Amino acid sequence: MEHVTEGSWESLPMRLHPRVLGALRELGFPYMTPVQSATIPLFMKNKDVAAEAVTGSGKTLAFVIPVLEILLRREEKLKKHQVGALIITPTRELAIQIDEVLAHFTKPFPQFSQILWIGGRNPGEDVERFKEQGGNIIVATPGRLEDMFRRKAEGLDLASCVRSLDVLVLDEADRLLDMGFEASINTILEFLPKQRRTGLFSATQTQEVESLVRAGLRNPVRISVKEKGVAASSTQKTPSRLKNYYMVCKADEKFNQLVHFLRNHKQEKHLIFFSTCACVEYYGKALESLVKGVKIMCIHGKMKHKRNKIFMEFRKLQRWVSCRGGHPRLGLFSWPGILFSALCSPGPLSSS
Ligand SMILES: Nc1ncnc2c1ncn2[C@@H]1O[C@H](COP(=O)(O)OP(=O)(O)OP(=O)(O)O)[C@@H](O)[C@H]1O
Ligand SMILES: [Mg+2]
Repeated sequence: MEHVTEGSWESLPMRLHPRVLGALRELGFPYMTPVQSATIPLFMKNKDVAAEAVTGSGKTLAFVIPVLEILLRREEKLKKHQVGALIITPTRELAIQIDEVLAHFTKPFPQFSQILWIGGRNPGEDVERFKEQGGNIIVATPGRLEDMFRRKAEGLDLASCVRSLDVLVLDEADRLLDMGFEASINTILEFLPKQRRTGLFSATQTQEVESLVRAGLRNPVRISVKEKGVAASSTQKTPSRLKNYYMVCKADEKFNQLVHFLRNHKQEKHLIFFSTCACVEYYGKALESLVKGVKIMCIHGKMKHKRNKIFMEFRKLQRWVSCRGGHPRLGLFSWPGILFSALCSPGPLSSS
């Protein structure tokens, strides 16, 4: 990756645990990205951080590594049901991705258990799993997490379990708010100890994010990493290595052009965004009959259990088309193997 210009992990002012360095070597990442080199030392030095950096700039490791290092430096070892870190992210798909990255880093530390709490699964099973396996690090979406605080009758006293919390991470803070999770986050914050480190990560710094910073962080250090060569005043929110293309066509030719494009790019993996769940279903069916020899998968917010399964399948496969409803920026950049994504409605068809 070409965004790795900010020195090696060994050049950080504090040493990372040799097994963390080992996990980075396994990933083939010898250098930090700018947001990582700016955030990790501050977060590890017990500062609250509010980091703004474009999508795809490596924010996940900018919090996964400090989370682990902070837990490793604890004086008292965490017991099975003591939650040391909580990572909140707006969508199930993002939570799954973070959980996978985290699992790579916790593998060499069997003393830490991690657990994923997302919608679309049976909450009762989530409770049982936590009771059996514990969860020192929780990765969760806000709705499910809030729900888990209300399950005392089932034997889960989460409010007590989080008393040992060292670190809270709010990932994609701007989207958390756009998606209407402000009330859930505030409820969750009420349960958490004030003596904790908080990291807030976001691709854009909006007024609403600013209020969340004020509500959840204490004397935060603000980090803003802009793309190289982009003026500080610029509003560019996409990584400079992302190539954007577009095609101008009449509105009624849009779908035909999409079909034509997909027929000519059957070897690649695609994501197509539509504005509503119904459009996803409708155009998904249409594409199935018009573009032969590729698997078309539909995913949108009105799907309950199926959505997690489809997402996992899509990630594994080499060259499928996925039709999605919703916002294209949400973690799209880090979906492995995506070469083209297209916005199909409303407005002009574009592909990037
Ligand atoms: N130090 C590094 N060296 C090389 N690649 C890296 C490094 N850190 C992260 N990456 C890779 O960069 C990609 C983007 O990382 P990540 O998902 O953390 O970005 P992000 O800033 O969270 O983006 P988004 O806003 O879309 O969630 C991933 O594929 C990740 O594996
Ligand atoms: Mg991210």
